[in-house]
Amino acid sequence: MTRILIATKNPDKFREISELLEGYSIEFLSLLDFPEIPGADEKGLTLIENSREKALDAFKKTGIPSVADDTGLVVDALHGMPGVFSARFAGENATYRDNREKLLKLMEGVTDRRARFVTVVTFVKNEDEIYSFEGEVEGFITTEERGSQGFGYDSIFLYPQLGLTFAEIPIEIKNKISHRARAFREFGRFLELHESGIS
Ligand code: IMP
Repeated sequence: MTRILIATKNPDKFREISELLEGYSIEFLSLLDFPEIPGADEKGLTLIENSREKALDAFKKTGIPSVADDTGLVVDALHGMPGVFSARFAGENATYRDNREKLLKLMEGVTDRRARFVTVVTFVKNEDEIYSFEGEVEGFITTEERGSQGFGYDSIFLYPQLGLTFAEIPIEIKNKISHRARAFREFGRFLELHESGIS
């Protein structure tokens, strides 16, 4: 069996990603298995840079093929903001709520409410073989919060196909249609083709 390190210390993220990649004969580890390794900073200016940096850092410290993701909410009327700054949109120690409130305030009176979540997944097989995959989901920013599930910007992101925000959609459904699911499914297809030669 081959091993892949999912470069996250977030147990929820690890569970979600390992579920998305179920069915491959691969053992998935997370950075929780390596408490001595600190999480990498997200200093890049693009999602691809950040996901690459996190995966490369994990690979260099463990020698295990590593995968990492980075996500942003891209709002058309705000010229792509908060984008790569989604986690700290309202400041370095901003909470999810602070970020949502800032976004809703900036969008007051704005009619073009188109937005998309974008996830980039980068897989570092070794320092010479690095692959990135992207997943997107299109939607609209609501004018107020709706729903109580999920996290981050879920309660202000309307998924038009269902007429519900991501915070109103059961997590099992969200995890099938989300930006993250789409990006990791692309990675899964890659694994299907290359699985035998990973480590
Ligand atoms: P990360 O790259 O997964 O850490 O995501 C960066 C930020 O984007 C998070 O802090 C959240 O604010 C937001 N975010 C990421 N994924 C989601 C999601 O599925 N729903 C809502 N917000 C998300």
